[in-house]
This record gives sequence, C-alpha cells and structure tokens, in this order.
Amino acid sequence: MPTPSTRPARKAVIPVAGMGTRFLPATKAVPKELLPVVDRPALQYIVEEAARAGLGEVLMVTGRNKAAIEDFFDRHPELEAALEKKGDASRLEAVHASTDVAQVHFVRQGEARGLGHAVLQAAAFVGDEPFAVLLGDDLIDARDHLLEQMLQVQAEHGGSVVALLDVGRENIDKYGAVAVEDAGGDVVAITGLVEKPPVDEAPSSLAIIGRYVLAPEVFGVLRETPPGRGGEIQLTDALATLVERGEPVHGVVFSGRRYDTGDRLDYLKAVVQLAAERDDLGPDFRAWLTGFVADLPGAGASQA
Ligand code: UTP
Repeated sequence: MPTPSTRPARKAVIPVAGMGTRFLPATKAVPKELLPVVDRPALQYIVEEAARAGLGEVLMVTGRNKAAIEDFFDRHPELEAALEKKGDASRLEAVHASTDVAQVHFVRQGEARGLGHAVLQAAAFVGDEPFAVLLGDDLIDARDHLLEQMLQVQAEHGGSVVALLDVGRENIDKYGAVAVEDAGGDVVAITGLVEKPPVDEAPSSLAIIGRYVLAPEVFGVLRETPPGRGGEIQLTDALATLVERGEPVHGVVFSGRRYDTGDRLDYLKAVVQLAAERDDLGPDFRAWLTGFVADLPGAGASQA
C-alpha cells in the first residue's frame, strides 16, 4: 500500500477569489479570470490544462462578485435549446466544452485574505493526498507540458513542487523568489522561499509562477501561517516553513510561454499570440497584423 503522500495527485484547486485590482475598471463587475483570450475565458484554458494532465476533479475557490464563474461552468439549457433549434452544431459544441471538460466544484473564500488562505479553503475537498494548484489568471501554452512534468517530479520525489521562471533580477520583487541547491538542470531542490523580496536581497532571479503540486501537509502549516507580505496569508511563507522542517520542495524551471492575464500588457500579448496561431482566425488576423505593424511609427527603423 502506498503511503498517503506517495499517491499521485488527482485533484486541482484553482483560486479565483482575488480582486483583480491591476485590471480595473474592467474587473469591477467581470472577474479577471473570465476576460476572453480570443473567444474563451482565460479560466477555460486553465481547466482544460488540468484535465489534460489527468486532473478531472477541479475545485474553484471563488468569492464575492464571482457568480459569473459558476454560471460559466454550469449548463445553460435555454441557450443550448436555441442553438439546437438553429442547427448550429459548432457553437453548441463550444458551449458544451465548458461544462464537459472536468467535474467542477466551488467553495467560497469569505474574504480575500491571500493565496495561502484561498488554498486553505480546499482542505476538505483535497483530503490527505497531493494536489495541484493552478492560478486562475496564469496561462501556460498548451504545447508546454509544465503541469505534467511537475506531477512526474512530485511522484518521483514526494513533497511539493513549484513552477519557476527566470524573470531577471530586476523583476524579482514582484514575485515569490526561491533559493536553490543546484541550478544546473530544469529540476531543482529548493532551500528557501521569500515573497516579493527587495531586488538586492533576493536569493535568485527564479520566480514562482502559477502552478504548484502540493503535499497535503501544507494545510496544517497554512492554518498556523500568520499574515505576511501585504497583510495576506502567503502560500510562499507556508512552503518556506515546509522547507525549514526538512520536507522536500522541488522546482521545475519553465522555459516555455506563459502569460499573466491579470496584467494588462501580458493579457494583450496572450490575445495577439493565440489569435495569430489559430487555424480559423489566424490567417486573416496575421495578414492584418503584418500591415498594422509595418505602419507603426518607427517600424522601419527597428527592422533596419
Ligand atoms: P493575484 O495577486 O494575482 O490576484 O493572486 P489579485 O489579488 O486578484 O490581483 P491584483 O494584484 O489585485 O490585480 C493570484 C491568484 O490567487 C487568487 C487570485 O484570484 C489569482 O488567481 N487569490 C488571491 C485568491 O483566490 N484569494 C486571495 O485572497 C488572493
């Protein structure tokens, strides 16, 4: 019989209760996780990523003003009937895709007290087994199999695994940063974590991005984690405690494409890139984009 911590992860937790202040005023009424990336909410890409990695049970941690997220993952019989009547099979399929992709459950975080506090709301759903956390505004390109690799690393080493990206020293103060034992390969042993350190105190330029595979022991630690940076209960602080206790925490250094759709510039990049690569919209969009870019002020100079 495998011990609980060596069971493979089967469940995914997606925290979507944040206030999305970087994207105001849009996020006053629309959750940032539902902002469309081409024609699908960012969140749908993320649920699809979890399902592709074999995590068919998904818990969303929602909050106030997030009812539209529950509606999106629910059936819509009137809309389905109208599309059926019109014989619009492709749109009907698109509508079904949001409900069929995974078994989606919801729990509410009464107050946005930080990512660590959001993850703690998943304790009853997760139970005593490792689980994945995917941030609802962090998009990883479908061709990069980051989550699958992290699940493999967790199955091999046990403990917890975080996704890392080298963001350069000058940007590290916006992220959780890690100290690592040996930065040689793309799987590293983590020896320390700190949330949003000042640039000159950061242990490395490796930042934690929005994918985690966590040991269930994190819940006990989170219950005892006091508010940290920004007055919020930080998941990074709980992981730092696990490291101090000698629990294995590994990092997978990601070198693929990732977009923080809660950030306006990254959001725009995601929409343009994914639209340009689409089979249906791509040819027309690329043709228009090429002309648009050529006409931009200074375009000729930068190509020289
Ligand atoms: P962010 O810090 O990106 O979300 O949290 P935010 O607070 O909504 O963003 P800004 O800075 O105000 O624009 C990362 C993820 O954690 C969730 C968010 O919804 C996001 O997916 N989160 C954050 C919660 O679920 N609860 C919280 O208390 C905080």
